[in-house]
Amino acid sequence: MLRTNMQYVEIDEDQKVIVMTSALPGEGKSTTAINLALSMALADRSVALVEADLRRPRLAPKLDLDGAVGTTSVLLGKVSLDDALQPYGDSGLQVLLCGPVPPNPSELLQSHAMETLLSDLRARFDLVILDAPPLLPVTDAALLANQADGAVVVVRHKKTTKDQLTHALERLEAVGSKALGIVVNRSPASSSSGGYGYGYGYGYGDALERSGQTGGKRAARETKEEARVRARAEKERRGDVTPTSRRG
Ligand SMILES: Nc1ncnc2c1ncn2[C@@H]1O[C@H](COP(=O)(O)OP(=O)(O)OP(=O)(O)O)[C@@H](O)[C@H]1O
Ligand SMILES: [Mg+2]
Repeated sequence: MLRTNMQYVEIDEDQKVIVMTSALPGEGKSTTAINLALSMALADRSVALVEADLRRPRLAPKLDLDGAVGTTSVLLGKVSLDDALQPYGDSGLQVLLCGPVPPNPSELLQSHAMETLLSDLRARFDLVILDAPPLLPVTDAALLANQADGAVVVVRHKKTTKDQLTHALERLEAVGSKALGIVVNRSPASSSSGGYGYGYGYGYGDALERSGQTGGKRAARETKEEARVRARAEKERRGDVTPTSRRG
């Protein structure tokens, strides 16, 4: 579901560099960034996952990769992008870890070197996912969003408050960035899918309402567009309408 919707978001080919962020720490940014990057890579897209959280990097152990070189090494001119990128198994996904934690993350993220790095990544990949820090405690994610084509905001089901999400979205707006979508992490699995008590949901701007106090489980995971498409598919199955292509 997540992958399908990101493809929908990506219809605009200019949206290539995407920041994965959230209001606060621990809401599932890195997990979502990894899953999204991996699923796109497995669908044969050329994808780079970039650890742009230069304060508390955690991807190396999660992915079982060597964290010695990465984004900071490239920004400081110590290694080339080619040497810093690491393949993730045989998935096709290329990963650029953080590298050594710098004393001045915000400065690095605003540097000319960062601009060059992003344009090199942009030239080389179909999709570049920046795993960023949270928006509310530090400016880094906003600085990244300012240089990216848009942001995906992760909210943690029943934990992130409406106010926190509103403030996070305001931070993005303040730098002229766009929230391309909102991922609801750890939302309960639907009864039909059975299994675990967590999962992903995905929505657009008005997910702010749906992810909060209002709306049922289905609403929290289904956009209006999806509901419309589903309703039409159901009608088609019943033979009420003639099937048409999605692009009309
Ligand atoms: N859907 C999920 N189901 C179960 N555990 C999850 C889920 N999403 C995240 N976690 C766990 O929650 C913790 C925080 O997740 P993650 O590191 O992805 O968050 P983050 O937003 O990147 O955190 P930080 O702000 O520290 O970078 C991790 O231990 C991760 O394994
Ligand atoms: Mg993280």
